[in-house]
Amino acid sequence: MSMHEITIKVNGKPRRLAVKSNELLLNVLRDKLFMTGAKYGCGIAECGACTILKDGKSVMSCLVPAVAADGWDITTPEGLADGGTLSHVQQAFIDHAAIQCGFCTPGMVVASTALLNENPDPDEEYVRDYLRGNYCRCTGYVAMVSAVLDAAQRMKAE
Ligand code: FES
Ligand code: FES
Repeated sequence: MSMHEITIKVNGKPRRLAVKSNELLLNVLRDKLFMTGAKYGCGIAECGACTILKDGKSVMSCLVPAVAADGWDITTPEGLADGGTLSHVQQAFIDHAAIQCGFCTPGMVVASTALLNENPDPDEEYVRDYLRGNYCRCTGYVAMVSAVLDAAQRMKAE
């Protein structure tokens, strides 16, 4: 299998890596950079557990060949907090108890962050529609939607 050098920025830090041509970005993040926040759920872009940000927009990393990510500016779930301060979305998920088993949570929080990057003033319908690619088997979504709407208000108030 041929190897390729790629340079990616992950949570603000430039990383230079050798990757195989068939390696997926999710596996490189988890296994080579030990960023295990993004989860392997389905592997076929159905569940959203592997969601990361590329330039602030949501991407399912289980579908991206690592070689195709050369030059990307990536944020993983580990990069959402500012040092010890949680992002508004992270804090709102906690405050609204929008977490049960937690498996979907990193992807859900990343996707919600992308949502608010794109639309800082969403309504409930927008949030529900945007998050339709992120599956949660536990919460029923109500608390998550409330958390995203609340995070939008907190960002506006800042
Ligand atoms: S693991 Fe990527 S969408 Fe499910
Ligand atoms: S909290 Fe369990 S899958 Fe969402």
